[in-house]
Amino acid sequence: MSPILTVTDLRVSFATEDGVVHAVDGVSFDVAPGEVVAIVGESGSGKSVTAQTLVGLTRSSNAKITGSVNFDGRELTTMSDDELRGVRGEHIAMVFQDPMTSLNPVYRVGDQIAEMIRAHRDVSRAEALSRAVELLRSVGIPTPERRVRDYPHEFSGGMRQRVMIAMALALEPEILIADEPTTALDVTIQAQILRLLDSLNRDRNLSVVLITHDLGVVAELADRVVVMYAGHIVEDAPLDELFYNPQHPYTWGLLGSIARLDEARPERLTQIPGSPPSLLNPPTGCRFAPRCKYAFDRCTQPPPLEARLNDPTHLDRCWLEPAEKVANR
Ligand SMILES: Nc1ncnc2c1ncn2[C@@H]1O[C@H](COP(=O)(O)OP(=O)(O)OP(=O)(O)O)[C@@H](O)[C@H]1O
Ligand SMILES: [Mg+2]
Repeated sequence: MSPILTVTDLRVSFATEDGVVHAVDGVSFDVAPGEVVAIVGESGSGKSVTAQTLVGLTRSSNAKITGSVNFDGRELTTMSDDELRGVRGEHIAMVFQDPMTSLNPVYRVGDQIAEMIRAHRDVSRAEALSRAVELLRSVGIPTPERRVRDYPHEFSGGMRQRVMIAMALALEPEILIADEPTTALDVTIQAQILRLLDSLNRDRNLSVVLITHDLGVVAELADRVVVMYAGHIVEDAPLDELFYNPQHPYTWGLLGSIARLDEARPERLTQIPGSPPSLLNPPTGCRFAPRCKYAFDRCTQPPPLEARLNDPTHLDRCWLEPAEKVANR
């Protein structure tokens, strides 16, 4: 299936007082219609900057953005802010970790959803409100006819996240980008929100780009996994391949020692000794080499992200031979 979103050699750097931070440094991946792509990696690896840049949210005077983000044949990186606002919400919607940052505390939830609809669609206020009720119902909010009149603070954290998802779906986007949508919620509520995302993905053929630290979530929802390290993608593979045939030593680290069919999967990413390099002045060779116990001479050269197995859908960025990897893992 041809992708609906193609990201090619995306680079995002920020000028700061300390120098230029290369937050995203040559990221390429694509998303097929109805596909769930999970992005994982340690804090600071560039996941959020990547996601935000897809919809133009990192644009600013201190940011430099190059490369391409192609949505359904349209180039987003060079689009005007106005045009991009049309794409955002309408075709690509975003949900963040903290819904209070996107909900306005002084307006009723129903009015916020209705206004969002009316900003993009030629419908009456009454029609937009009844659409808001249906949206709240579709994300599992009980008695939505009543709840549309409530203010954001009258909803619990999990219900607020549902409201955000309802708002994100208001214009029937093709892609939902969810940046740690459940991190702030307790475990049972997390599971409900994830089931909701899963059913939206199935019922509406919604593509989802899901950023998460939780491997349980990845295992449950993702079709494909992109692993980021220090602004790079180091591995990109279908879900089962990533779990059962991981190729990059960093991925081995994240998975801990579980990457085997006969052992239970881990719930969280494992801590890896050491810390990621500075993005002000990243190492010129493999960025993971300083923390990698398998590093050898060649790792002073930067490895490309390539298919190293007989599988064009499984890419990794490591100089070790596949056979050595199997032996070492
Ligand atoms: N506006 C900005 N100006 C300068 N540096 C920035 C800016 N936004 C992000 N960064 C830096 O870019 C790097 C990548 O940040 P990003 O938020 O994408 O990480 P992340 O992978 O989402 O991490 P986390 O898991 O903690 O959310 C970090 O070093 C961060 O400090
Ligand atoms: Mg983040």
